[in-house]
Amino acid sequence: MNRPLSDDLLDWYDRHARALPWRVPPGWDIRPDPYGVWLSEVMLQQTTVAAVKGYWERFRTRWPTVEALAAAEDAEVMAEWAGLGYYARARNLLACARAVAARGGFPQTEAELRALPGIGPYTAAAVAAIAFRERAAVVDGNVERVMSRVFDIATPLPAARSEIRARADLLTPTERAGDYAQAVMDLGATICTPRSPACVVCPWREPCLARARGVQAERPVKPAK
Ligand code: ADE
Repeated sequence: MNRPLSDDLLDWYDRHARALPWRVPPGWDIRPDPYGVWLSEVMLQQTTVAAVKGYWERFRTRWPTVEALAAAEDAEVMAEWAGLGYYARARNLLACARAVAARGGFPQTEAELRALPGIGPYTAAAVAAIAFRERAAVVDGNVERVMSRVFDIATPLPAARSEIRARADLLTPTERAGDYAQAVMDLGATICTPRSPACVVCPWREPCLARARGVQAERPVKPAK
């Protein structure tokens, strides 16, 4: 009775989590290294998982710790970043690595992470949830799409963002917040895709309001031109 929606998603994640080099598989009682999590989340903004894998592994091999990255020359990091695009991200990455090294390691809360240079709300929440198990609501483009569909949010973006964030926050469980964050992103990437979502195999097919109304392809509603 009244089983939280997050439980259905976590059960699905236990069976279908993607194996990713920076990810600790569900069920392993190991905390991922915050440096690896942070590096993956910065790289994954605006870049696909497939493209990020090799870059993440090369960075981890060349600079195994945040202190090592902080000590690198700007030009070396820019050269290793080449191909990932959005060079501002590489500059922010270095600024953040240097601030973290100077303070003796990553802070463990979303609020303190948010205060670091070059870390936005998405990255702060993702690192807090995945590396430190804080109940932080992680909202990226995948999560926006999933929330707009499950709750059939008909308001166009960007105005819909406040409702999307509030819904995402309400759904985030206290336990397994990191697995939950990764599960919603995996769902958005593999099932609740922008076009032709695979609703028949979705763990949220029953509660999904957009699916019940047949409007899932029209959510989220794009900004008016
Ligand atoms: N996209 C960005 N970060 C991700 C993560 N941690 N898991 C799955 N997809 C993601």
